[in-house]
Amino acid sequence: MESLKFNQKKDNNDTEKESFNINNSILEYSMNRFPFSVNSFPRNYIVSTINNIEDYSALVVKSDFIIIDKNIERLYPLALDIQAYVFRISALENEKNLDTVLRLINKLIDNNISKGSNVIAIGGGIIQDISAAACALFRRGQPFTYLPTTTLGQLDSCVGAKCALNTDKAKNIIGLFSAPKKVIIPLFMISSMPVNEHRAGLSEMLRLCLTASNHALYKYINLLDDVLDSKTINLESYENALRLSLSIKKSVVEFDEYEKDVRRSMNYGHTFGHAIEKLVAFQMPHGLAVLLGIHMSNTFAYYNKIMNETCYLEISEAIEKTLKGINGDFNYLNKLKAENIIEQFKFDKKGDGVSVPLIMIEKPGKMVFYKFNFGSNSQILAKAIQLAIENFVKWTIETK
Ligand SMILES: NC(=O)c1ccc[n+]([C@@H]2O[C@H](COP(=O)([O-])OP(=O)(O)OC[C@H]3O[C@@H](n4cnc5c(N)ncnc54)[C@H](O)[C@@H]3O)[C@@H](O)[C@H]2O)c1
Repeated sequence: MESLKFNQKKDNNDTEKESFNINNSILEYSMNRFPFSVNSFPRNYIVSTINNIEDYSALVVKSDFIIIDKNIERLYPLALDIQAYVFRISALENEKNLDTVLRLINKLIDNNISKGSNVIAIGGGIIQDISAAACALFRRGQPFTYLPTTTLGQLDSCVGAKCALNTDKAKNIIGLFSAPKKVIIPLFMISSMPVNEHRAGLSEMLRLCLTASNHALYKYINLLDDVLDSKTINLESYENALRLSLSIKKSVVEFDEYEKDVRRSMNYGHTFGHAIEKLVAFQMPHGLAVLLGIHMSNTFAYYNKIMNETCYLEISEAIEKTLKGINGDFNYLNKLKAENIIEQFKFDKKGDGVSVPLIMIEKPGKMVFYKFNFGSNSQILAKAIQLAIENFVKWTIETK
């Protein structure tokens, strides 16, 4: 198989640079080794890893204010003699709002937190979004260190400086850019990730690899067996997965941190994904909704002859493999109606009132920005959505 040949040749020198194109811009990534720096505004930040609970405890003990996911505290208890104030959050979408941010800011005030204080946020994307929003607003920029604990947080969201909050009406509709002072990835915490949440994170990595190149896709496929199960994960392979995924993300956000153009590619699968999440009342993790969204986008690209059959089947196989052994019953997805998904596009924050950009790929590394007009004929799109749902549900059953 081409993938193995490709990988063997490249793995001997995995710091080699690779170029890819997004919207006529040429980007470059190489497999960065930890620690590496991300160029950002107002300051660059270093991304590093820690591998054990002792290093984690040493870090936590030095902090003045801890924002933590309640589940993480339960799984990895904080030392009893900790001096810092601990702000605990349940990692739930309905906590990701301005009320929580305001409560957090008031606690920062009560605890005399200033720019020199050591604030750390520990958790997945929900804790990142709340903490980064509060820290951006508090004193016009409170420095904070972020410790991503979820697969998604580690493989994707910890680089990029975005944060978003929900309102009752829309998810992620309130948004800011808020870069942390440092990112420190506690690798060992990955082993406690629940199956479906872990796959959701791997799905975001697959999205990043598809943005970059065939080579990145093959690397993903080759790493997958080693990292698919969080309980028995091979940490060396997982670190390589992080290097690959975060190196691609770094190259995109350094090129276009504020999403003027190129960074829109990161939205691949998301317009569909957000619509699905909303319609199933957030029953499925965000990353899995994006994975289904990617398959919808690819199926639409295939129907429109933008993507060829070989490429379509190869990526479909990678999606199927990412779902292998997943928990639960996804049959509720069969109740989704394509027209309701398309209707939701009107609420997508990337839309301009009359259209929404649907991000597709022709092949890995070649993005297509397709403008979907709300009034246009959507029969082919509806057919693609319906087929993608059928495949996705079938794969969640067949691969058990
Ligand atoms: N800011 C960004 O750039 C960005 C990017 C993507 C997604 N997001 C947002 O992130 C959120 C999703 O975040 P997420 O997928 O990282 O997860 P999450 O924060 O929603 O957590 C998911 C679940 O995993 C648990 N958990 C966290 N770490 C764990 C660990 N090590 N072991 C066991 N359980 C653990 C949590 O308690 C929770 O139950 C969404 O709200 C999404 O919109 C933000």
